[in-house]
Amino acid sequence: MCGIVGYVGRKDAESVLTVGLQKLEYRGYDSAGIALLVKNNIIVRKRAGKIHELINSLAESPLPKSTIGIAHTRWATHGGVCDTNAHPHLSQRGIFAVVHNGIIDNYSYLREMLRQQGYSFSSETDTEVIANLLEYNYLREGELIEALVKTVKQLEGSFALAILFRDDPDLIIGVRKDSPLVVGLGEEENILASDPVAILPHTKRVVYLDDGEIAFVRQNSVEFYDFQGKPIEKEAKILDYTEEDAEKGPYPHFMLKEIYEQPKVLSTNIERYVRSLKPVLLRDLNLRKLLLNKTRIIIEAAGTSYHAGLVGKYLLETYAEIPTEVEYSSEFSYRKLATDSRTLVVAISQSGETADTIDGLRYAKKHGLEVLAIVNRPESTIARESDYVIYTNAGIEVGVASTKAYVAQVQVLTLLALELAHVKGFLTEDELEGMMRHMEALPKKVERVLALDAHIGHIAERIYKTTNVMFLGRGINYPTALEGALKLKEVSYIHAIGYAAGEMKHGPLALVDNALPVVVINPRSSAYELTVSSTHEVVSRGGKVISVITEGDRRMAELSTHTIYVPEVPEFLTPIITIVPLQLLAYYAAVLRGVDPDKPRNLAKSVTVR
Ligand code: AGP
Repeated sequence: MCGIVGYVGRKDAESVLTVGLQKLEYRGYDSAGIALLVKNNIIVRKRAGKIHELINSLAESPLPKSTIGIAHTRWATHGGVCDTNAHPHLSQRGIFAVVHNGIIDNYSYLREMLRQQGYSFSSETDTEVIANLLEYNYLREGELIEALVKTVKQLEGSFALAILFRDDPDLIIGVRKDSPLVVGLGEEENILASDPVAILPHTKRVVYLDDGEIAFVRQNSVEFYDFQGKPIEKEAKILDYTEEDAEKGPYPHFMLKEIYEQPKVLSTNIERYVRSLKPVLLRDLNLRKLLLNKTRIIIEAAGTSYHAGLVGKYLLETYAEIPTEVEYSSEFSYRKLATDSRTLVVAISQSGETADTIDGLRYAKKHGLEVLAIVNRPESTIARESDYVIYTNAGIEVGVASTKAYVAQVQVLTLLALELAHVKGFLTEDELEGMMRHMEALPKKVERVLALDAHIGHIAERIYKTTNVMFLGRGINYPTALEGALKLKEVSYIHAIGYAAGEMKHGPLALVDNALPVVVINPRSSAYELTVSSTHEVVSRGGKVISVITEGDRRMAELSTHTIYVPEVPEFLTPIITIVPLQLLAYYAAVLRGVDPDKPRNLAKSVTVR
């Protein structure tokens, strides 16, 4: 999704802004631009393509120096990918420059209204409408804050804005509605950004804007207003991660770094959520009461988080005996909710900014349902709007393909299900203790899987030229098959399908021939024997099986062309131990195909549009 950076301070604005855009590259984009304020004149440079196109253009024909400006990376929604549609957009008389994350639903109506007032448009974007509407209102109102208040009232949809105002060389305006915006508070400088990652090199003191808020950011001060123009007080927070968290370090890609961070992430959550005194998550009496009073759970999430939700379903139903449904967020918000107040909605999200999942959360609350969020990013919209929050503590995840965040989500769902089972009397203290010992042993076992890196890279060499791969899993590892397939397709562009192993014979078996690699996830578990049968069905039709199985399993090894052994763990931990080799398989397939696994085409790290 698009990225916003604004700067006002002592430094060279162009370099601060271009470096800030590079920090946001991971979010996915297709064009980039910058606007500087130089002696009451706003100068804009923007280019379709990657940020280095913009930087090359700035090097070839430099802009005048300035200490104030805004910049943007655009992920095209309204209007194709071209220089003209890139942001920033100037208003007709050059009074304002605007960069925008989000979508203005009523931009066509507003554009027509402005055309009748003599405005013309050079781009196809909704953002240019915002710039001209603000200018139109400013020229009529004469006062900046009044013009802003009027403008935001006329806009329908989602918008995070950074605005340059030609007549004030010490002001960047930030506006937030349904798309994140953060102010970084520096020394004689202040930053505005859509993601704290761009602020981190300058300061860790930040203020998160809430929906319906405006910020006047100056070199030595920041004022906040609501959408009625009333001044408001905001509290500064301290970012809880460091700059190296947002850097690749010795790794060639963020995705590999984040796969390798998984033992540490698991250990962080064990430290935080597994104690001698139990329960830990449910020590929060309000959360415990909430869960004990619910007779049904609906999990709403997107993509990888949806797959974590599917694992959560198995765990919550198996151990805590609470009926659990899992819905794609984008479907959940459009179905009739046949529920009552004893239904709990759980929103799972790494970024906490996924528009579909935010919509699902708001839809649930509109129906009087309480929402528990399981999110990774503190202060994110989903964290702030939910009734309860459990953090997954995976740290910043930069790679578009979610890896460590997924493992952290599954780990938190596991702990929640086991604690709830214990509190409801389905697990004794000793049983819970025993399961937590296995959880504590997990990080070391994941390290042993990471040590298979080269072996998995070797297997990737065997499949990276193929056009189709099938993933099969059963029971608690059916979601593992779905997630393994998503990883492969989203970073290597190889078509991959995840299927329930038992369902494969009802149709997908027709796809199996001696050219089709079939990844079978079959660790020791209650589904083992049946999945061995499914594997026989594949092998007898010439399918090449790549099996993810428990160390020492000879039976499956004899059926497999390639074998990936993982350490033995109890069934409830198999989704974590078996996804790690599939993450590596996807990563190496992408690299072998010459694709940057951190920035897959067409995708964004946080999908903030519907
Ligand atoms: C996962 O690898 C994908 N990048 C994508 O499916 C992602 O999981 C989905 O967009 C949900 O994102 P969220 O967890 O931040 O809500």
